[in-house]
Amino acid sequence: MKTVLIKGARPYGEGDPVDVLVEDGVITDIGALDTPEDAEVIEAGGQVLLPGFVDLHTHLREPGREDTETIATGSAAAALGGYTAVFAMANTDPVADNAVIVDHVWRRGQEAGLVDVHPVGAVTVGLKGEKLAELGTMAKSEARVKVFSDDGLCVADPLLMRRALEYSTALGVVIAQHAEEPRLTVGAQAHEGEQAARLGYTGWPASAEESIVARDCLLAEHANARLHVCHVSTAGTADILKWAKERGTKVSAEVTPHHLLLTDERLATYDPVNKVNPPLRTGSDAEKLRAALAEGVIDCVATDHAPHAVQDKDCEWSSARPGMLGLQTALSIVVETMVRTGLLDWRGVARVMSERPAEIGNLSDHGRPIEVGEPANLTLVDPDTEWTVRGAELASIAANTPYEGMRLPGVVTATLLRGRITAREGKIAS
Ligand code: NCD
Ligand code: ZN
Ligand code: ZN
Repeated sequence: MKTVLIKGARPYGEGDPVDVLVEDGVITDIGALDTPEDAEVIEAGGQVLLPGFVDLHTHLREPGREDTETIATGSAAAALGGYTAVFAMANTDPVADNAVIVDHVWRRGQEAGLVDVHPVGAVTVGLKGEKLAELGTMAKSEARVKVFSDDGLCVADPLLMRRALEYSTALGVVIAQHAEEPRLTVGAQAHEGEQAARLGYTGWPASAEESIVARDCLLAEHANARLHVCHVSTAGTADILKWAKERGTKVSAEVTPHHLLLTDERLATYDPVNKVNPPLRTGSDAEKLRAALAEGVIDCVATDHAPHAVQDKDCEWSSARPGMLGLQTALSIVVETMVRTGLLDWRGVARVMSERPAEIGNLSDHGRPIEVGEPANLTLVDPDTEWTVRGAELASIAANTPYEGMRLPGVVTATLLRGRITAREGKIAS
């Protein structure tokens, strides 16, 4: 296997630049190093070296909607965004609720070879919320499913959720909940607040999220199970998480880049590119989410990358599908909202983008320290350069980015998966 020498990088953005030698997929030396004859050299020029990012929440639309994203195109977007592992949600068509589908997704990811694609298994058969799927069979299949979720829909029945949590402990897996009490969001189009009222949209109240998060924290605590909360969007949820964690509940949570940056002020544009579930909330929610992420009350950033076809987005608000692209812009939004504001340093970025998601997703070979003997899953970041987002230029098939035309800081200049360069200077390495 190839030898790669990363020359002059600053691990975690700290200290003087060092050279990092990678052989056979492993970091074998760090210091002032000579260049081995056969080595491929990456001139890092003092850029920030981080452990490869891990996304706990990605929608790759294969099988079923390959017109919007495939495992291959989503993997390319992920590698370009600095990711070395992603968890692909189960709301495909057919649903990933059995070993055949999850193994198929896992193998397609390995064939693409750009990031490890870990399939998320559905909690209930067909995401119908009626009957538990065969979690054990999926956990023991070739894909070794580690995270289960009905994402897109909430496991609303408390008895089913309780059973799922009980099984998950026995299997050593985690249930990730899309917290949305469906009775409170019938016909909901946007965050229930001033903006929605002014524009005449049916409101999606904060309480629909918070009531499920509170309930699930209690269910998890009583079952002594682990719970992961998807895409936290309200200040109230952050308070509940803090309370639960202080009580010793084994709960973890993620926030999306868009909920850190964007607010329901965006509704005034009437552009459905801003329609997402949960909806964009208020400025004070976003502020609170940033603080909760910095504090560790929210554990990590997950993209909820949700590609949609033009015809499903470029239409009337009420008929548009919710969701936005995220893989190639996540790092930049985190730099903008968390690093430039002084809320996180690069150690903190490594924690929320790589280490914590790897731990929550039970990955032993990602989110590891940048040390000799560790797997070379690495991301090199130019922290100062800005770039302009163009949906059409992103690797995804769909182009529904809410950041179109925005200038953002932070460029991923190289990604390495087990010592192999997967992305370099904005291009997929072949
Ligand atoms: C997701 C999708 O498109 O699959 N949409 C979204 O708005 N986030 C589903 C989900 O994450 O709930
Ligand atoms: Zn969801
Ligand atoms: Zn999702």
